[in-house]
Amino acid sequence: MIKKMLLLAFASMPAYLGTQAQQASRMNTFISNLMSKMTLDEKIGQLNLPSAGEFTTGAATNSDIGKNIKEGKVGGLFNIKGVDKIRAIQKVAVEESRMKIPMLFGMDVIHGYETTFPIPLGLSCSWDMKAIEQSARIAAIEASADGICWTFSPMVDIARDPRWGRVSEGNGEDPYLGSQIAKAMVKGYQGDYSSNTNIMACVKHFALYGAAEAGRDYNTADMSHWRMYNEYFPPYKAAVEAGAGSVMASFNVVDGIPATGNRWLLTDVLRQQWGFKGFVVTDYTGINEMIDHGMGDLQTVSALALKAGVAMDMVGEGFLKTLKKSLSEKKVTLAEIDAACRSVLEAKYKLGLFTDPYKYCNAQRAKTDIFTAEHRNAARQIAAESFVLLKNNHILPLKKSGKIALIGPLADAANNMAGTWSVATVQDRSIPLLAGLKAVLGNKATITYAKGCNLSDDATLEERATMFGKTLNRDKRSAEEMKNEALKIAGEADVVIAAMGESAEMSGESASRTNLNIPQAQQDLLRELLKTGKPVVLVLFTGRPLTLDWEEKNVPAILNVWFGGSEAGTAIADVLFGDVNPSGKLTMTFPQNVGQIPLYYAHLNTGRPLAEGKWFQKFRSNYLDVSNDPVYPFGFGLSYSNFSYGDIKLSAAALKGNQTLQASITLANTSQYDGAEVVQLYIRDLAGSVSRPVKELKGFQKIQLKAGTSKTITFNITPEDLKFYNNNLKYDWEPGDFDIMIGGNSRDVKTARVTWTR
Ligand code: BGC
Repeated sequence: MIKKMLLLAFASMPAYLGTQAQQASRMNTFISNLMSKMTLDEKIGQLNLPSAGEFTTGAATNSDIGKNIKEGKVGGLFNIKGVDKIRAIQKVAVEESRMKIPMLFGMDVIHGYETTFPIPLGLSCSWDMKAIEQSARIAAIEASADGICWTFSPMVDIARDPRWGRVSEGNGEDPYLGSQIAKAMVKGYQGDYSSNTNIMACVKHFALYGAAEAGRDYNTADMSHWRMYNEYFPPYKAAVEAGAGSVMASFNVVDGIPATGNRWLLTDVLRQQWGFKGFVVTDYTGINEMIDHGMGDLQTVSALALKAGVAMDMVGEGFLKTLKKSLSEKKVTLAEIDAACRSVLEAKYKLGLFTDPYKYCNAQRAKTDIFTAEHRNAARQIAAESFVLLKNNHILPLKKSGKIALIGPLADAANNMAGTWSVATVQDRSIPLLAGLKAVLGNKATITYAKGCNLSDDATLEERATMFGKTLNRDKRSAEEMKNEALKIAGEADVVIAAMGESAEMSGESASRTNLNIPQAQQDLLRELLKTGKPVVLVLFTGRPLTLDWEEKNVPAILNVWFGGSEAGTAIADVLFGDVNPSGKLTMTFPQNVGQIPLYYAHLNTGRPLAEGKWFQKFRSNYLDVSNDPVYPFGFGLSYSNFSYGDIKLSAAALKGNQTLQASITLANTSQYDGAEVVQLYIRDLAGSVSRPVKELKGFQKIQLKAGTSKTITFNITPEDLKFYNNNLKYDWEPGDFDIMIGGNSRDVKTARVTWTR
């Protein structure tokens, strides 16, 4: 009796109270007791994560989910939206199953719930960790109000190949920035699990998913361990260190073994080296896909996944169907099944579901906390911060007067504004550019609108790209008729805004491209619009870096707006008319053409680098036809302000051991506009035991600066910032000379040199 009372007290005591050791011990006692009563089937049941089938990226789950829940064969459910539905299902789990264990309810809450923020690649361009954390916080508040306690986010895959459509879901090419964002997101979602607005994060896709060969989704990834540890692992590790409760295994192979069955990755690296304490879930049918990877039949691959360290099997039911048999044939052990089951139950415990299975099912909150004016306002501000001004030939900001012609297939496309992976969004509620312009301008200016052309002349491209019903509604008129209408309104206007680029689903999952131009039909129209002689602003919608060589040379102003989310239209208008000064900086390099890919700033020097100022030299590392330069480098982005940088001042030119170096620079805003600048710190280690990149981002500060003022910015640099994994994967710094570089992008920097000895 006393034991029972104690256990109840354990379960009802909030998981976050007491010291960490006390919390862990309470949890262990509770779960050990629970597991001692569970049958083998019920333990295996906890490892099963079917899809309810509302939004799927693959085949839906076959088995009767309701029956399985009653029989204790379901640990969690995803792809379901709505607090009432979720409450009803939870009720079945906690009232009709023998063990009454509550279920996890997951969802891809990737960049917002109903209030949608810019796609993650866009968010990363804000370089504003507070804003990014706030976006995750709001997403968690909304999702948790609607029954969701677990999000399949953040996606932190480093990606250097814009052909891969999923670059839109990540934070770009840089491990340092990616790590800061990973931490901010985990914090925003999970907090300390103390309230019913904290949901569990799931870091994905572990690992190397962004390194798919040729940018083709789900393709092979292969690289040295040295590169994994230095360039691809850091953001996953940062998320784990920030306490992420779960990790999703990626679809690709790592060292030849699919991540889902890779014990080195999921146990040695993740748990032993990084100290991960949560649970691992597969990606959608990740276990079954190991059959196609050539790893064996369902029983073999399921056992492989369990032994590697997977706890939850998303959709595929490999665990459900084969683990019992594998146990009887001694292909897996009970200890392995127990460990997996325990990690799932621990997640439920940490979330407080044993105390209150309906913690996330507050119907009242679902009415008041979702898509609120406050959240939408935050989305508007954050969206404006994500836009990157790529070019501005004295056109922007526009005046709030005169005649404006808005032209292009993305100009009035509400259902495309949220961008990819916005499953909870009510698509048509997002504000398209046309409505945003009207809202911001009122009757101060006249706006005329013409679609001008379809997304592409190739209707099938549009069809292939469309997912979750975000069609652009193909215009049936002839191309000529549409063009003429557009040219007519352009001819009558003072300024033309061309809203062009990719549709929302031309990037994202299963949306790889080999041609990264703005689709031809739109480029043709853009050329015609430029011929009118009217000032043209290209408002570029895209989920990835595009090849904009021609546009950079010919279009007078380009504002890259990604997919800005619920408030895209108003946020774009805020920036176009100067109510908000753009401050976004690219987190992925924009190449000249596809042949240069992968192109990234933190590359090695090679033994044959080009001489300064040359774009071609025979027998040097370059191309015959184009320079090695990008169109827009990493970290690049303009403002309506002009910022100028002084020279770097160092606190010392020679340092020893654990001393701290202060590197300062004076930033001046020489314009009439108040603005924000992302001041970036890069370091180059000039000689090491392994070849080191020509520069690596090691710090940044987003500085607000009033017009006509200046400010001295200081970075504190310690040997921690000089560390890297050497050829034996030892993480340390090596004495020698270092270039300290500070600037407004990765190309245009001031440099000073220091010597650092042990
Ligand atoms: C994607 C994951 C996603 C999962 C569940 C998969 O297709 O790769 O990123 O979390 O589906 O929807």
